[in-house]
Amino acid sequence: MERFASMRVVFSLSVLAVLLLQLLLGVATAAAANCSTHCGNIGISYPFGVEPGCYHEGFNLTCDRSHKPPKLFLGDGSVEVLEISIPSGTVRINSSSIVPVSTSSAVGTGSVNKTGKYHTWGGLRKGGPFFISPYKNKFLVLSCSNVQVLLLGGDNSTVNACATYCPPAPKKGQPFQFPMRNECSGIGCCSAAIPKGYTSYSIQIQPANEISEFDAESFVYIAEEGSYNATRLIFETVSALPALLDWAISNSTCGTKPSAAPAPACRSSNSYCQNYTSYVYNGYQCRCNAGYQGNPYIPNGCQDYNIDNFNARSIL
Ligand SMILES: *[C@@H]1O[C@H](CO)[C@@H](O)[C@H](O)[C@H]1NC(C)=O
Ligand SMILES: *[C@@H]1O[C@H](CO)[C@@H](O)[C@H](O)[C@H]1NC(C)=O
Ligand SMILES: *[C@@H]1O[C@H](CO)[C@@H](O)[C@H](O)[C@H]1NC(C)=O
Ligand SMILES: *[C@@H]1O[C@H](CO)[C@@H](O)[C@H](O)[C@H]1NC(C)=O
Ligand SMILES: *[C@@H]1O[C@H](CO)[C@@H](O)[C@H](O)[C@H]1NC(C)=O
Ligand SMILES: *[C@@H]1O[C@H](CO)[C@@H](O)[C@H](O)[C@H]1NC(C)=O
Ligand SMILES: *[C@@H]1O[C@H](CO)[C@@H](O)[C@H](O)[C@H]1NC(C)=O
Ligand SMILES: *[C@@H]1O[C@H](CO)[C@@H](O)[C@H](O)[C@H]1NC(C)=O
Repeated sequence: MERFASMRVVFSLSVLAVLLLQLLLGVATAAAANCSTHCGNIGISYPFGVEPGCYHEGFNLTCDRSHKPPKLFLGDGSVEVLEISIPSGTVRINSSSIVPVSTSSAVGTGSVNKTGKYHTWGGLRKGGPFFISPYKNKFLVLSCSNVQVLLLGGDNSTVNACATYCPPAPKKGQPFQFPMRNECSGIGCCSAAIPKGYTSYSIQIQPANEISEFDAESFVYIAEEGSYNATRLIFETVSALPALLDWAISNSTCGTKPSAAPAPACRSSNSYCQNYTSYVYNGYQCRCNAGYQGNPYIPNGCQDYNIDNFNARSIL
């Protein structure tokens, strides 16, 4: 009995020593590289980083402190980052509208082509690791032209389409036709799901008849579902809306169960590898095990958050 008790003490002490060592090592590497943990009020943690030595390949960011507050960008800087979530493996970006046909500011995610009917949305590196999150974003067209707008993926396959229609202006005393609830189902505004995750998209406009033109007041977005109020947008267009990106840590897939080798990027104990496969990419993400939360990409990043679990274990 006593021998067991002392063995347990020795065991606990060695566990503590290992934990301390890992903690010290973690602090040492972070301090040596002097990595930014914030840009303005946006939190940055590994695999993302600003300074050399602070990020996993492909996850370099640029913090432009000339803005007040500072602005954060993916890579060398055209796509603006609004928020990074390590647990859900997503990045919220500021997604410029694809159209309007206005001043040709070719900055940001949207680009403008006054002459052609093709307009592109891009700015993400071809081949990843960032992709538009399928289903969490909407393709949104605000227009009073009678047109059908096709959304094409980076390989020019048609991903989805929607059509807008504008009824004649209401006569005096008649109610206004625009949707008064947050509805974008065709009159002045249409929307469609984005079911495939590419790094770039383009739109193709098909007039419903020869007379119709895609008018200068039209706006087309790729935007996060729930981030906008369609009724307000009709009256008050904006140059950009938030959109949600997925990312994968590696372009290889997880091993085959049950004899899988651990995925090298999932460095925390209590983390696991999850395949991230899309139409254009095969890779993986890391997740914390059930009952743990935090950052699976750093040693001891996944922490036990279930107090009941913790108590039960210390009683045992
Ligand atoms: C770390 O970075 C900060 C801000 O850029 C700088 O003031 C500081 O001197 C750096 N420290 C080391 C050890 O490089
Ligand atoms: C930063 O990211 C961009 C885009 O992903 C890439 O083109 C560039 O080479 C990267 N720079 C460094 C220093 O890694
Ligand atoms: C998003 O970008 C637009 C310009 O395209 C800019 O006016 C707006 O301030 C940006 N939003 C944020 C939150 O940075
Ligand atoms: C605009 O689109 C037209 C027709 O598709 C094309 O010929 C032209 O090269 C494009 N211009 C730019 C600047 O992309
Ligand atoms: C997609 O279509 C556009 C316009 O026709 C063309 O310029 C581009 O090369 C095509 N892209 C691919 C990947 O086929
Ligand atoms: C959307 O905007 C309209 C007009 O500003 C407003 O009346 C409505 O309450 C808003 N809807 C939601 C869900 O916020
Ligand atoms: C995967 O990434 C590695 C390193 O970035 C690169 O050398 C390789 O070409 C990529 N493989 C594929 C299939 O994209
Ligand atoms: C991940 O995908 C690979 C290749 O499709 C497959 O062999 C492997 O079993 C998958 N692993 C998991 C954990 O789903």
